[in-house]
Amino acid sequence: MNKSYKLLSAPMAGFTNYAFRELLRIFGGVDVIETEMVSARSFVELELRSSEFPSRLWGVCGESLVTVQIWDNSPDTLSEFASRLACDFGVCGIDLNFGCPADRIAGKSASGSYLLRYPDRIGDIVKKVVVAAGKIPVTAKIRLGCTNDSINAVDVAQAIESAGASGVIVHGRTASAMYSGRADWDAIAAIKPKLKKIPLYGNGDIKTVEDAVERLENYPVDGIMIGRAAIAKPWIFKQIRAKIENRPIPPEPSFEELKNLIRLHYDLLRQQLNETHAIIQLRKHVCHYATGQKYSRQFRNSICSTNNENNFFNLINQYFSNKTNNINNPVINGNVR
Ligand SMILES: Cc1cc2nc3c(=O)[nH]c(=O)nc-3n(C[C@H](O)[C@H](O)[C@H](O)COP(=O)(O)O)c2cc1C
Repeated sequence: MNKSYKLLSAPMAGFTNYAFRELLRIFGGVDVIETEMVSARSFVELELRSSEFPSRLWGVCGESLVTVQIWDNSPDTLSEFASRLACDFGVCGIDLNFGCPADRIAGKSASGSYLLRYPDRIGDIVKKVVVAAGKIPVTAKIRLGCTNDSINAVDVAQAIESAGASGVIVHGRTASAMYSGRADWDAIAAIKPKLKKIPLYGNGDIKTVEDAVERLENYPVDGIMIGRAAIAKPWIFKQIRAKIENRPIPPEPSFEELKNLIRLHYDLLRQQLNETHAIIQLRKHVCHYATGQKYSRQFRNSICSTNNENNFFNLINQYFSNKTNNINNPVINGNVR
């Protein structure tokens, strides 16, 4: 396989915070790690009022591989934010969000996927942000269009390229599809011949190493972005990288390794959050680790009923032990609280 394929970790609000990004760096194999989307307007207003930064920027300063994803619809606000990120935060990249379909962003704020209707407007935004970011690469993440009747990803991608962006990431769904149906990789592939030089990154529904290889081999993309699968398997990039480089694929972690990973994730979260919030955040990831294991539903119920560190790790230690499959396991019977 072509060894220069790039592997990107997707921006995911509520997940891709500092602790998760650090886990991805520790596992390795990933080239770009995106933050959660950050509101440019909140940044500018918060700084004016209180010299504080949005909590989503926690840890970003000096972080390696990090690209901050930003959203708004004002070229001025976005470029002001981009300039600060480039000069004062030392980020590795800036990604513009033109894909979010959530009502708060695309409806009330006329941003995210709302802007797909206006390729020229997107071009204006990208042009200004590229200038403001200086040497820092600027990418844009889009969807195929707003609805099935208005698919215009080629026009939008061309506007993004002409405006000087360093790459375009395409989630192969329309905004109105949200997450339903399947990502349309043929529609992503159709964009490639219309771009002159910037890389095209495909995104959507890559769940396994095999899926990743299939997309890279069969579609004319320069790399792939993975979101949800990395929540469940932050080690997936390392496995895909090994496959690309024709090395043996590292195995899935053992229960012992999973327990160590959960403890490390907790310690990383605690750098930013108090005990309760760290546990609440961690629960979301741990529930995914249990997927496919026996009694995972009972385990999820138990784990989601505690915010206490000791109880939480007792449950983890019991579930991810060799006795997991024992029907008398107290986690399974719901006796441990
Ligand atoms: C919980 C969650 C939060 C997301 N937050 C963002 C976001 O902040 N910015 C963005 O551009 N996309 C966001 N997305 C979309 C993902 O980046 C990605 O495009 C989508 O999940 C499809 O890729 P996947 O099938 O690999 O998950 C989010 C997706 C999920 C599931």
